[in-house]
Amino acid sequence: MARVVMSNVTPAMSASPPSSPTSSSLSPTPPAAAPPAALQARTIPGSYGWPLLGPMSDRLDYFWFQGPETFFRKRIEKYKSTVFRANVPPSFPFFRNVNPNVVVVLDCESFSQLFDMEIVEKRNVLVGDFMPSVKYTGNVRVCAYLDTSEPQHAQVKNFALDTLKRSSRVWESEVISNLDTMWDTLESNLAKDGKASVIFPLQKFLFNFLCKSIIGADPATSPQVAESGYAMLDRWLALQILPTVNIGILQPLEEIFLHSWAYPFALVSGDYNKLYQFIEKEGREAVERAKSEFGLTHQEAIHNLLFILGFNAFGGFTVFLPTLLKTVLSSDMAGLQERLRKEVREKGGPTLGFESVKEMELVKSVVYETLRLNPPVPLQYARARKDFQLRSHDSVFDVKKGELLCGYQKLVMRDPKVFDEPESFKSDRFVQNGELLNYLYWSNGPQTGSPSESNKQCAAKDYVTLTACLFVAYMFRRYDSVTGSSSSITAVEKAK
Ligand code: HEM
Repeated sequence: MARVVMSNVTPAMSASPPSSPTSSSLSPTPPAAAPPAALQARTIPGSYGWPLLGPMSDRLDYFWFQGPETFFRKRIEKYKSTVFRANVPPSFPFFRNVNPNVVVVLDCESFSQLFDMEIVEKRNVLVGDFMPSVKYTGNVRVCAYLDTSEPQHAQVKNFALDTLKRSSRVWESEVISNLDTMWDTLESNLAKDGKASVIFPLQKFLFNFLCKSIIGADPATSPQVAESGYAMLDRWLALQILPTVNIGILQPLEEIFLHSWAYPFALVSGDYNKLYQFIEKEGREAVERAKSEFGLTHQEAIHNLLFILGFNAFGGFTVFLPTLLKTVLSSDMAGLQERLRKEVREKGGPTLGFESVKEMELVKSVVYETLRLNPPVPLQYARARKDFQLRSHDSVFDVKKGELLCGYQKLVMRDPKVFDEPESFKSDRFVQNGELLNYLYWSNGPQTGSPSESNKQCAAKDYVTLTACLFVAYMFRRYDSVTGSSSSITAVEKAK
């Protein structure tokens, strides 16, 4: 059994009230703090190399020769340490003001210190030292770029938390009714072509239910938004993050055309303005509440709502749900569908909703295990607020004020000191040991924590997992079996 390490849930997290719809069923007792072991003081290994050459060489390894996962794994082996110095993209030639030097943290102990807002700050570091132009968000620095020390962070975060709480009933029913539409479309495409592509019906499902539940706006009121709102968000999202992500197109084309400069907002300003106007008109109630109850300006309210809708929610689910689908449909998971079907039908009750899926231990565990192995937002950054000592499981390192820390969750959540057989998918891992939820970090905080104005944990931490559970439960109420992959459905057998 892997050792469960000392929990680093910060006071800021543990003090916040349990606002989540799941808190009772999802929170196991935190593990008892392990006695402080003697930690070896070490200098952080690794170097940034020669100016320009070091960052360039690391960038090519990261995007081309190794890929992110191997990039980090190789350096753990080389330095015999889960904490080391490296450069992360973007870098030279057209990112002159971006400093690629980071301290990488790759185990549960060191990564969890990124949640401690006493020692780190999160100003403008959502995707690293590089920040997409604020023109992409109407010249407003939206919530995800604000540090907890900035008063606007509390205003917007509380607005987001309040919006989610109010929307919970609408959220559940919109998920179900839009899943009806999505699966009707997939079935009819399957009947026509023998195969149904998932991505666009899925994105339409996401766009519709998220607009209704977060903004309180029905896309059907604007034919253009209803038809292509999701594609507008796709383009807007892609241009912001292209310099930092691996697409997998033929090299060196990807390096030359996608990772060498930032794309101008002008390319998507038309789309953005249409979505802005849609929210201004159809989301009036939410905008007014943001102004009157949370003190935001008219523009801050709309740009934040648009970012939460498009970047946080639509972007996050667009990455996560195909991975979840793949996990459930994988042929090597023999027997999983049958077990899920049994649980969903036994515990689903007359109507599917947040309350019924909370009873589905296996469904929840499959959702958590998918998030553990493939966290949708794998990189997290935080800057040292002051000089401090960074702990890994066995060592302690001096970090200087201003240094940028970079965690890669995909390896952090495979920490062999915490998870048994960390590379394997174990469908009931979290049924067997609920304490492991303390080390499930996909939301930039432990799954047992609560998002609040004093931390930077995802505002929708519980809505995301519950929605994913509804997604799986719906599938196995409607079908006896489904065959396909993350990108297409090739056969369905209706429930008998
Ligand atoms: C699968 C879907 C989602 C994933 C994977 C995800 C992941 C994350 C992560 C990792 C962060 C922290 C980023 C950082 O500071 O480094 C975050 C922040 C945030 N998320 Fe989510 N998220 C998802 C869905 C949502 C949804 C549905 C909403 C709202 C409706 C939401 C609202 C937010 C907000 C407002 C923040 C900023 C928190 C703050 O600044 O304190 N997210 N999310």
